[in-house]
Amino acid sequence: MKVLVIGSGGREHALCWAISKSPMLDKLYVAPGNGGTDSIATNTKLDVGNHDAVISFCQDKDISLVVIGPEVPLVDGLADSLWQADIKAFGPSAKAAQLEGSKGFTKDLCAKYNIPTADFGRFNNADDAKAYIRQNKTPIVVKADGLAAGKGVIIAENEAEALKAVDFMFDGAFGDAGAEVVVEEFMEGEEASYFCLANGSSVLPLATAQDHKRVGDGDTGPNTGGMGAYSPAPVMTDKLCKQTLKTIVQRTADAMVTEGTPFQGVLYAGLIITDEGPKLIEYNCRFGDPECQVLMQRLDSDVLELILATVDDKLQSITPVWRDEVSLTVVYAADGYPSTYEKGSVIKGITEASRPDFVEVFHAGTIKENGEIKANGGRVLNVTALGKNVTEAAAHAYDAITQIHWDEGFYRTDIGWRAIERE
Ligand code: AMP
Ligand code: GLY
Repeated sequence: MKVLVIGSGGREHALCWAISKSPMLDKLYVAPGNGGTDSIATNTKLDVGNHDAVISFCQDKDISLVVIGPEVPLVDGLADSLWQADIKAFGPSAKAAQLEGSKGFTKDLCAKYNIPTADFGRFNNADDAKAYIRQNKTPIVVKADGLAAGKGVIIAENEAEALKAVDFMFDGAFGDAGAEVVVEEFMEGEEASYFCLANGSSVLPLATAQDHKRVGDGDTGPNTGGMGAYSPAPVMTDKLCKQTLKTIVQRTADAMVTEGTPFQGVLYAGLIITDEGPKLIEYNCRFGDPECQVLMQRLDSDVLELILATVDDKLQSITPVWRDEVSLTVVYAADGYPSTYEKGSVIKGITEASRPDFVEVFHAGTIKENGEIKANGGRVLNVTALGKNVTEAAAHAYDAITQIHWDEGFYRTDIGWRAIERE
């Protein structure tokens, strides 16, 4: 079959890498792709906001499945448009993508269906949000309702900070995403991510992961899209996985069916493991980036089979097989990220860093020009390695990264530290 992947990040390179191993694949396209997808798929310029253009391209190339990587086209209804044109799309409808697209939507669903999460209030004006803050204890968390590329969350240590955060959001710091605000209880505990495939009430757990959101070593500095990740997450014992599936993800999938907005695609639950058990921080309606990279490296099954089982509602008949090893990825980012950074510097040594079977360098913000790989984004490469435990996977990844020559980039030197301390 012919497949189109939508997106340009490390997540999409990893998806293309995994899909390209499938015996079911005849041809793979990616729009727009990056300097790494170029060698395993046909990079294609497409305006993904123009649904008719995407549909025409699929019809023209005889593409029968579209795998939508990022959240923005999902929230924008690309999957709905594709299904209407009889093209299978992996990923939720716009209505179901509200699970990521509106924090208030998800919090209301949690309240209605008894899904464990932080206590909250939902506000469309600053005065009410401030009154709620004054009635509750600090630290307290202030969130823009809509998509804000992972930046719309402020953890306020005291009341003054929280009140300032409310003004900041209603003054338009996050544009339309901040027209509504969720204020919620601060939850204490270790964070973990839990990934499932879902179609309606059928939920198939995939794997767990942990990421490092802060830009600096020791988990310091501003939040980013993620500076590294590993899978599985040692904190997620079998018992916690079962509890999460039962009380959070299955309840959500069932609730979405009851509400008339069944979910199809990747349900990625961001969790905090509190003293009272796992609680939901937020949902994402797609694979994480860079979590997808470690999941794809660990996956021993045909990812295309899993994707087709999801879109065709056959999740009950499939069991994913995982390698025994741990996978860990280190993000190599452009100097200045997550703030401003330059594009266009040349990167060498990527091929030398790769090791068949245990080190893959997934490209994120790169472009291939005249045979050279150049930086073209904030997060640029994901050096991803297997090992018998997190310590060994990290050693392999950091060994590989020394082969890469790129003066204009930086990476964290402590990815996996919490798990390594445990080991
Ligand atoms: P989000 O974009 O909702 O995933 O939030 C970004 C980060 O903020 C999370 O990964 C957590 O580290 C933190 N966070 C969000 N909500 C809470 C909460 N209620 N309690 C504690 N930390 C939170
Ligand atoms: N790495 C976090 C995310 O993809 O949302």
